[in-house]
Amino acid sequence: MAVDYTTHDGVAVITLNNPPVNGLGLTTRAGIVEGLERAQNDPAIVAIVLTGAGKAFSGGADITEFNTPKATQEPTLATVIKAVEGSAKPVVAAIHSVAMGGGLELALGAHYRIAAPGAQIALPEVKLGILPGAGGTQRLPRAIGLEAALNMIVSGAPVLSEKLASSGLFDEVVQGDLAEAALAFARKVGAQAGPHPKVRDRKIEHPNAEGFIQFARNSVAGIAKNFPAPHKCIDAVEAGVKDGFDKGLAFERECFIALVQTPESHALRHAFFGERAASKIPDVPSSTPVRELRKIAVIGAGTMGGGIAMNFVNAGLPVTLLETKQDALDRGIATIRKNYEGTVKKGKLKPEALEQRMALITPTLSYDDLKDADLIIEAVFEELGVKEQVFKRLDEVAKPGAILASNTSTLDLNKIAAFTKRPQDVVGMHFFSPANVMKLLEVVRGKDTAKDVLATVMQVAKKIRKTAVVSGVCDGFIGNRMIEQYIRQALFMLEEGALPAQIDKAIEKFGFAMGPFRMSDLAGNDIGWAIRKRRYQEHPDLHYSKIADRLCETGRFGQKTGGGWYDYKAGDRTAYPSKLVDEMIVGYSQETATPRRKISDAEIVERLVYALSNEGAKILEEGIASKASDIDMVYLTGYGFPLWRGGPMLYADTVGLYNVERAIGRYAAQANGDGWQIAKSIGDLAAQGRGFNS
Ligand code: 3HC
Ligand code: NAI
Repeated sequence: MAVDYTTHDGVAVITLNNPPVNGLGLTTRAGIVEGLERAQNDPAIVAIVLTGAGKAFSGGADITEFNTPKATQEPTLATVIKAVEGSAKPVVAAIHSVAMGGGLELALGAHYRIAAPGAQIALPEVKLGILPGAGGTQRLPRAIGLEAALNMIVSGAPVLSEKLASSGLFDEVVQGDLAEAALAFARKVGAQAGPHPKVRDRKIEHPNAEGFIQFARNSVAGIAKNFPAPHKCIDAVEAGVKDGFDKGLAFERECFIALVQTPESHALRHAFFGERAASKIPDVPSSTPVRELRKIAVIGAGTMGGGIAMNFVNAGLPVTLLETKQDALDRGIATIRKNYEGTVKKGKLKPEALEQRMALITPTLSYDDLKDADLIIEAVFEELGVKEQVFKRLDEVAKPGAILASNTSTLDLNKIAAFTKRPQDVVGMHFFSPANVMKLLEVVRGKDTAKDVLATVMQVAKKIRKTAVVSGVCDGFIGNRMIEQYIRQALFMLEEGALPAQIDKAIEKFGFAMGPFRMSDLAGNDIGWAIRKRRYQEHPDLHYSKIADRLCETGRFGQKTGGGWYDYKAGDRTAYPSKLVDEMIVGYSQETATPRRKISDAEIVERLVYALSNEGAKILEEGIASKASDIDMVYLTGYGFPLWRGGPMLYADTVGLYNVERAIGRYAAQANGDGWQIAKSIGDLAAQGRGFNS
C-alpha cells in the first residue's frame, strides 16, 4: 500500500508510504485521493492530516514516471492538489525530514502546514531541467513572498524548516512530537467553521515586482546559458504576478510539459540517477558488510598525495602522511596549509578550522606509523619498481584487513596487488587532479579485490563527497582510455587540415570546458608524449599521428615552458595561436602527403565525441564498466563534458546509434580512417533500435 489511512478521534491521517522517499507516483496519488474521499464521507471525521512515513514527507513527483503514460494518468498531481485544496474538511500537512518538489506543492495545497525542525524544504525541479509543475511557482510566492520564493525556485536549494518558521509557509514549527501536534492542530481547526484558508487566495505583495523579476533574470543569465529551465521558472512566477493565479497555473503547466521533453532535462535526470546508480555494483549487494575506517594513511606527499589527504581530513578522519625524505614531507605539508589558507582567505573556512584540520595530519618518515591504519593510499611516483617497493613494505607493516589502495593512473593494478600476499585487500583509488577539488574517483577493481573492500571504498567515497565509479583493470581505466582516442582524433585532424585553435573552439562551443590543445598545454604535453612512447612499443601496429611528438621534440611542453600548441606570455594564461606551430602543422601534412582540406566544426565535434562514445562502447563490451551511465558520470565529473548533454554515451543515444554508426563509417573511409575500429555493440544496438542507456 502506497498510502495508509487511519483515524484518531475524529481526525483522519493519510500517510504516504512509498519508500524510499514517498515519491508521488500514480498509486500514491490515487491513494491520497481515495483517503480524502473516505474522510469526506465519514461524518465522524472533522479534519485530515496528511503526512509521510519513513524518511520523508515527500521527495516529490516520481521522476522515474516522467515521459511515461503514468505521469499524465489521472489522478495527476494537479488533480490531487485540487482535491486537497477543495476539501470541505480542513487538511493539515505535517512535514518532516524532506518536502521537495511535488511534495512541497502538495503541502502548499493544504489549508494548514505544520513542520518539524530540520526538514529540508525545496523546489529542486530546476536541477532536473524542469520547473515546479504542480502550482509551486504560483503558491510559493503567495506563501513566503516573491523574493524568497523566486530564490528557492531558481536555485532549487533546500532551506531548513526552522529558517522558514516566520515566512508564512508554516502555521507552526513544532519542537515536540509532530504526529501528536498534528492531531491536536487538526482537532483545533476541525472545530472552527470553514471555509479554511487557501494559499492560492493570498496576494503577492511586492513594492517593485517587475524590477525584482528583471533582477532575477539578470542573475540567472550565467547558469541559464545552456539550460532553458531557470528562465522558464521566472516566466511562470511573473505570469502569476501579472495575470493572477489561474492563468499563472496554466502557463506553468505549459512550461512544464515543454521542459520535461528537452534534452537538457533528460540529461540532468540521467545524471541524477547515474550518480546514484554508480554506487551500486551488480555483484556486490548493498548488504555486503563494510570494514571500519577510522585511520587513514597516504604515501607520497606530492601533487596527488596532499590533495588526497585533504579529502579525508575535511571529512574529519585523521591521516598519517608518509614520505621518504624530510624536505619532501615539509613541502607537502606546507602545500596543504597553503591550500587551506587560500580557503580561509576566500571566507570559506574559519581560521580555527584550518588549525583543526592541520592537527588531523600526522607527518612521518616511518612505516611503523602506518601499522594502525585501516586504509592506506599510495600516491608515489608512477613507476612499477617504486610501487613494488612500497607495496612489499606495506604487506609487512599493515595490519590484517587494512585496505591497500593505489592511486596509479596507468599501471596494472593486478601486478601491484601481486606484490603483496593479500591481493584481496588491494584496490585502485584513482583520484583526479586537484584531488581535493575534483568530484570523480575511479575505483579500480582488481581480479582479486574482495567485495567488502569495494563496498567499503564506495562508502568512504560518499563520506569524502566523491562520485565513485567502478572500473575494471585496463590501460587508462575508463576515463583516460577514452580520452586517448579523443586526442588521437584531434591530432589526425591537425594533419588533415585543422589548426589547434579551430578544434578547441569547436569543441568548446559544444560545451567542453577546454579543448584538447589548451588542455594539453595546461597539463603538459610531455605527459601524453610519455604515454605515446609506451604505446609505440606495446602496439607498433596502431597508427598515431606523430605531430605532437614533433612539438615535444622542440621542447614546447605547454604553459610551463612558455609555449606549446599555443604561445603564452609571462604571467598570462591566455592561449595565443602560434604562427610557428601552425606552420609546423602545415609542413607536417606536406611531409606525410596528407592533402589539407577545410574541416567543418560539425566534423570536429563528431569525431571527438564519437571517439569517446566508441571507446566507451568497447569498455562496456569488455565489462570494464558495468553500465553506460557509469561512463557518463566519469565524463561529467572528471573530464568537463557538458552536463546538459549528459555524457558521451547519453549524447550518442540522443543522436541515435544508427546515426553514430553511419558517421563513424564515413570517417573510417577518409584519410586516417584506420583510427576507427567501430565497437560491435553500436551496430547491434542500432539494429535493435536501442541505445546504450535503453
Ligand atoms: N522520484 C523517484 N525516485 C526518487 C526521487 C524522486 N523524486 N527522489 C529520490 N529518489 C530515489 C533515488 O533515486 C534513490 O533510489 P535508489 O535507492 O534506487 O538509488 C532513493 O530514492 C534514495 O535517494 P537518495 O540516495 O538521493 O537519498 P537521500 O536520502 O540522500 O536524499 C532526497 C533524499 C533529498 C529526497 C534526494 O533523493 C533528492 O534530492 N531527490 C530528488 C528530489 C526532487 O528533485 N524532487 C522533485 C521531483 S520533480 C517534481 O516534483 C515535479 C513536480 O513539480 C511536478
Ligand atoms: P608527484 O611527483 O607530485 O608526487 C610523488 C611523491 O611521492 C613525491 O613527493 C615523492 O617524494 C614521493 N615518493 C616517491 N617515492 C616514494 C616512496 N617510496 N615512499 C614515499 N614517498 C615516495 O606525483 P603525483 O603527480 O602526485 O603522482 C603520484 C601518483 O598519482 C602517480 O601514481 C600518478 O600516476 C598518480 N596520479 C597523478 C595524477 C596527476 O594529475 N598528477 C592524477 C591521477 C593519478
